[in-house]
Amino acid sequence: MTRRADRLLPVVLLALCFVPVLSGTLRLVQLAGGPEIMPADDRFLDWPMALVVHIVGSAVFAVGCVFQLVPTIRRRHPDWHRRAGRVLAVAGLMVAGSALWLTLFYDPQPGTGPLLLVLRLVVAPAMAGCLVVGVAAARRRDFRAHRAWMIRGYALALGAGTQVFTLGFGEAVLGHGELRGDLLRVAAWVINLAVAEWAIRRPARRRTSRARRVPAEVVSP
Ligand code: HEM
Repeated sequence: MTRRADRLLPVVLLALCFVPVLSGTLRLVQLAGGPEIMPADDRFLDWPMALVVHIVGSAVFAVGCVFQLVPTIRRRHPDWHRRAGRVLAVAGLMVAGSALWLTLFYDPQPGTGPLLLVLRLVVAPAMAGCLVVGVAAARRRDFRAHRAWMIRGYALALGAGTQVFTLGFGEAVLGHGELRGDLLRVAAWVINLAVAEWAIRRPARRRTSRARRVPAEVVSP
């Protein structure tokens, strides 16, 4: 990855996380009895535990993984990458597990339809699967597979961030509707997976001289 792309990557990823992490924080403030900055959602009032787990896990996972994915940070701080990776894998499984819990046991978000429900039932286990396979690959020191599966898992999670844009721009152009909204949300996962596959297959064109000095097992291909 070039130095410019290396600098741009965290900015783009943090921009994608920004809205869902902010809205999650505001929701937690509201559930804790703080001011109602966003509209109340009766679905979570009786038993908000799944949402609390989801919001805390997703904030840790979404922001923490940005620093795992930036090549220069990974290469310079391999011990940090390993230690943080364990915490982030647990946070990621919390996101996927709570997403499944929210989808199966809470009323669906008003204005959304069966397509989104079914896709969430596919995406949440798929995300968990990517993380499990990715961690297993790291344990057997197959860092190429580790990198690929962690990127895929993160891309699925970050669908929540891309949905802000697909819904925002899509509904502004196409208008509102249950199926349209579901399709625009699904489009976010498709876009993220396409970008992930491109990033995984993209040949590493330029490596820093520092990267060449670091032992092969801590440098992803
Ligand atoms: C790291 C990525 C993610 C972030 C930052 C995130 C963030 C959030 C936030 C802030 C909420 C609360 C919304 C509210 O207060 O109304 C929420 C709800 C929810 N999320 Fe996520 N999420 C992520 C990943 C996912 C994934 C991958 C799935 C499904 C496969 C998912 C499924 C859900 C569901 C079902 C709800 C319940 C509310 C609803 O029905 O829309 N989330 N998420």
